[in-house]
Amino acid sequence: MKPNEIIEKIKKSGLTGRGGAGYPTGVKWERMYQKNHQLIYIVVNGSEGEPGTLKDGYILKNYLKELLEGIKIAYQIFPQTKEIYLYLRKDYFKMYKEKIEALKGSLPLIVFKEPGGYLCGENTVLVNSIEGKRFTPRQKPPFISEIGLWGKPTLVNNIETFFRVYQIVNDKYQQTRFYSITDTQTKKQIVIDLPLNLSIYEVLNQAGFLPKNNDFFVQIGGGAAGQYFTPDEIKNQNANLGTGAIIIYHQKQISLEKLIEEKLNFLMKENCGKCTPCREGLYYLFQQLKNNNLNDKKITDVINALENTSFCGLGEGAGVSFKSLWQKKEKIWRS
Ligand SMILES: Cc1cc2nc3c(=O)[nH]c(=O)nc-3n(C[C@H](O)[C@H](O)[C@H](O)COP(=O)(O)O)c2cc1C
Ligand code: SF4
Repeated sequence: MKPNEIIEKIKKSGLTGRGGAGYPTGVKWERMYQKNHQLIYIVVNGSEGEPGTLKDGYILKNYLKELLEGIKIAYQIFPQTKEIYLYLRKDYFKMYKEKIEALKGSLPLIVFKEPGGYLCGENTVLVNSIEGKRFTPRQKPPFISEIGLWGKPTLVNNIETFFRVYQIVNDKYQQTRFYSITDTQTKKQIVIDLPLNLSIYEVLNQAGFLPKNNDFFVQIGGGAAGQYFTPDEIKNQNANLGTGAIIIYHQKQISLEKLIEEKLNFLMKENCGKCTPCREGLYYLFQQLKNNNLNDKKITDVINALENTSFCGLGEGAGVSFKSLWQKKEKIWRS
């Protein structure tokens, strides 16, 4: 198949990126292709730092050859690619570097060990980290598709996205995605490949993870940026959000305070401190929590500021997530 035919096929499949933002892959690749740049870089994003998201590790473990085939397809479309970085979080790097090196053949592939944490998965931080710079996001625009790694146009996609490209080109794609499901009570986890159009209820049911009583709630799309849903909402809510992570919590096991504390501890550790809404906003929420002052009227303003004025997706995502928790807290802990 010619490059433009492959791109057309990807577009027709409706594939959207599986790294969290859900941008249409075919459109992204077509734009890059039409620009006909002299030299580009490709980055395969295997940072997978968002709590509850496990699918990229699952792909590395079970579908490494298919992933490399997907990367080869990208290289076929963009032969002007100087280097392809397979950007892996530390444990994945340790587990799979040698295997990948043995399988990569003539691909100009560099297996790169992620030097930081969750924030390094954000594509401009990722580029900075490969260049050896501080782990802070860049101003967009310019987007990294124009000025990315080493100042050159850079195509960044998630590991699962490349795996799905392999499936699409080989007529194996069936409109599915990997859902990573965690039950915080039983501590059981699963990665399961299921259709995109299922409700949360259907995914949990088909995975065998539907709790027997109604004393639960779920966070969908990732443990940092995901939104919350109650049992009476999950039948009508599509599960295909964010990274495809579903975390099941149980009201009797975790209080609102404990949950907020857990989330804040993660976000305060992982944020870069570059912008005020995120740096100060998270700290403010933490202070109010510690002072037993969660009734403070300002909390909603702080959450709104996080969502709407943060410099990057970490703060925005945190805002979206806290907003949903805040709005539903009475419904979740109703008794
Ligand atoms: C804080 C933060 C962390 C992110 N972490 C990841 C990650 O671990 N893996 C990933 O593929 N995308 C991650 N992203 C999204 C990337 O910036 C980018 O949208 C994605 O890699 C594009 O690939 P896709 O279109 O195939 O999803 C993150 C974004 C933010 C804001
Ligand atoms: S939103 Fe948070 S992580 Fe992003 S730039 Fe601001 S402080 Fe850094």
